[in-house]
Amino acid sequence: MAELTAQRPIALIVLAAGQGTRMNSELPKPLHKLAGAPLIAHALAAGASLEPSRVVVVTGHGADAVEKAVADLMPEAVCVRQAEQLGTGHAVMQARTALAGFDGDVIVLYADTPFVAPETLAAMRLARARHDIIVLGFRAADPGRYGRLVLNGDQLDRIVEADDASPEEKSITTCNSGLMVADSETILSLLAEVEPTNAAGEYYLTDVPALARQRGLSATAILCDEWETLGINARPELVAAEAAFQARKRAEMLDVGVAMPAPETVHFAFDTVVGRDAEIEQNVVFGPGVTVESGARIRAFSHLEGCHVSAGAVVGPYARLRPGAEIGNDARIGNFVEIKAAEIGEGTKVNHLSYIGDATLGDGTNVGAGTVTCNYDGVMKHHTTIGKGVFIGSDTMLVAPVTVGDHAMTASGSVITQDVPEGALALGRAKQVNKTGLAVKLMDRLRAMKAARTGNKG
Ligand code: UD1
Ligand code: CA
Repeated sequence: MAELTAQRPIALIVLAAGQGTRMNSELPKPLHKLAGAPLIAHALAAGASLEPSRVVVVTGHGADAVEKAVADLMPEAVCVRQAEQLGTGHAVMQARTALAGFDGDVIVLYADTPFVAPETLAAMRLARARHDIIVLGFRAADPGRYGRLVLNGDQLDRIVEADDASPEEKSITTCNSGLMVADSETILSLLAEVEPTNAAGEYYLTDVPALARQRGLSATAILCDEWETLGINARPELVAAEAAFQARKRAEMLDVGVAMPAPETVHFAFDTVVGRDAEIEQNVVFGPGVTVESGARIRAFSHLEGCHVSAGAVVGPYARLRPGAEIGNDARIGNFVEIKAAEIGEGTKVNHLSYIGDATLGDGTNVGAGTVTCNYDGVMKHHTTIGKGVFIGSDTMLVAPVTVGDHAMTASGSVITQDVPEGALALGRAKQVNKTGLAVKLMDRLRAMKAARTGNKG
């Protein structure tokens, strides 16, 4: 029997080597997106809640891409390759060298099981005070292909895979989620005894509880809600997981006092934050990294990612906020306006058909319809700085790098290539010339040409 304190150091082992054949995709399964983040990001985030001292990710299929994603998500994680996918037990064994010198527990997570709650992981860790091997189980509505937990009181005798189960065992509805906690050395030494003597010919992690029992160690199961253990194997499951995530997130948003006339049409990311009494209209899509403050309003059909909208601001309808958009208090971002990496000052208005990228706009400035910050020269990006109380005339092209001083104006249709001093009016357009009677003459000539070509038929 284990006599341990609850808070031993813990290492994560995230299994991400499987092929994910049933996704029918070139993209490795751990990189398919759920709520705006790759599946593996969800597993890593849940595991991170345990403050692990080491993180080992076992990669295989699509290893290069998975390892790159892991490096971005969690630079401290170590990736180890499982050259051949010989089973979940074999996968855990690949972590052996990465765990050298580690004295503590390990928790095995699956990259394709995104919803497991931090509280559940904490409960598994706590259960180690009384047992050597902790398996996370759940009561399955449809046990199907899941491994079955053969329990004897609170002792877990063994886990039997569906393909190896007797009819009697198949009728068990308490199933294996795949997650397991055990002492690092113990689980590795038990895995060394696993033989591939099963229907699939694989090294099963699920053999660990029975082997532990043979050694006089104890194994038990902690049960959680079935939805937490939802594993993604095929696209319909990914769709179901997304729907489940969205339903929960919408309910959470309503709970914190967000106004949403049609929540079923709003799509959130895993990390969307919206303040109380902010209003989110129909068909708004949030990518990762968005914060909307209390009292802001996001109007219908807007798309936001990596941005911040301050109190009192109104965005949309049909607006697009891209990463780095910082919308100030009471600002207005109207229809068909795209903002990227730009700070929009308090009360500033960009109401129609404009592109503002790599820019800083002061307070109380008005940007006319069709304005474009020409931020890209084909090789490099350049910055546009516009002061406060500025009036940018419609259809102004601001060729960056360029600065427009406070209280300046640009005439409509201007191409601004030089800095505009404070308070100045910049005119950067061709001078207009009117030719008397020329329009009528020109039209007559064109009609005559057409008639000659069509042989007077028209
Ligand atoms: C596994 C369990 C089963 C459990 C189910 C829950 C085993 C033998 N069976 O079955 O009891 O009910 O999960 O979803 O453990 N992986 C590797 N390398 C491998 C094999 C798998 O990294 O060689 C990874 C996969 O990428 C995946 C996870 O391990 O993230 C689970 O593998 P999978 O093949 O989906 O296991 P199941 O057959 O679903
Ligand atoms: Ca699976």
